[in-house]
Amino acid sequence: MAKKGISKLSVMDFIKAVPKREKIISKASTNSLPSADSYKPNQIANALHPEKQFLRVSKIVEHSCDIKTFYLVPDAEKGTEKLAWFSAGQYLSINLTVGNATITRPYSISSSPRESLDGYYMLTIKRVKDGLASQYILDNWTVGTEVTASAPLGTFTYEPLRDAKTIIGIAGGSGITPFRSLAKAISDSDEDVSLTLLYGTRNLEEAIFQDEFVEIAKKCDKFRLVNVLSEENNESCESGFITAELINKYKPDGLYSIFMCGPQAMYDFVDKEIESLSLRRKFIRHELFGEFFNPSKEPDYPENVSSQFNITVSFNGTKQTVTADADTSILRTLEANGISVPAHCRSGECGWCHSKLISGEIYTPKSIDGRREADLLYGYIHPCCSFPLSDIEIQIHPTK
Ligand code: FES
Repeated sequence: MAKKGISKLSVMDFIKAVPKREKIISKASTNSLPSADSYKPNQIANALHPEKQFLRVSKIVEHSCDIKTFYLVPDAEKGTEKLAWFSAGQYLSINLTVGNATITRPYSISSSPRESLDGYYMLTIKRVKDGLASQYILDNWTVGTEVTASAPLGTFTYEPLRDAKTIIGIAGGSGITPFRSLAKAISDSDEDVSLTLLYGTRNLEEAIFQDEFVEIAKKCDKFRLVNVLSEENNESCESGFITAELINKYKPDGLYSIFMCGPQAMYDFVDKEIESLSLRRKFIRHELFGEFFNPSKEPDYPENVSSQFNITVSFNGTKQTVTADADTSILRTLEANGISVPAHCRSGECGWCHSKLISGEIYTPKSIDGRREADLLYGYIHPCCSFPLSDIEIQIHPTK
């Protein structure tokens, strides 16, 4: 009964409220509403997660002829007043026009979050053999070059609820970049975690940021650097490769997470090594830029796959057919043919390249298949980490 009374009262209140509200509405201003951007919460959201950031190269540091660090500052004239905040380990997706192709490439931010408050991001880029973007950037970016980038993206970040309080960082070659950001963030007291960094290079001369890491380690007892040299003997470093034995030597007594960033060959080797450590899956983290993933090495890759197929693509109201190598991702094939596909992470994580498979069969390695159940149900694929198993037809959305 009580319930009935309450609901009757509510209906009566509502009926009485209508004329009152109509009166208020009739007195309201006829001026149009202020734009969504004029509201403070929207301004904060746009500052934290802008769709694009317009930047300019302000300084270049050459580590060797094949590795450079580019300092990027906001380009106020183009509309970016301040850099978006980020967490150590995130990346920027950079827009590039190379020849007649518009492409994007993800590069980890090597500066720390504190340094972005000083007004710059650092991207440290290594020339990759056959790497369209890295070759272009190293040969063409100079001080003053305008750069369009995404907001900071990616999940290769320390999460206190998921990760252990000690991280064993495993870096190979230019995979050191997110660890430079994390080490600085720890010494700036912006991250409350300990990092032991096993940094694999052929020799000590190849190690990027070596002096900086040594300085950080001197000042901050939560950071430790271990150089692992495969082609040089140096008594202050470890020799050989990053093995389970080496990890055991430097791991803490309690829980620890492994964060890995480096070339695919390093993942293939270290992943086998760490099997014997019996770590829980959530404590093993990879930064995946799956550009050069080789699908035929996967245990579930089908046998007797032809080496080439045709890919027919519908985009921007047109259709085009291109020839594809079976071991090259669909995204790379399309870009090589001047077809722009929206993409950020290039490793199956962000969903930005989400495209419809109209016909044919593709292979997506399980370890980088970030599709949701609905994608699988309705035939959507991520071309960045999908490989043709037959002639296929796909529909892609135009580059944003
Ligand atoms: S580019 Fe991120 S999922 Fe393909």
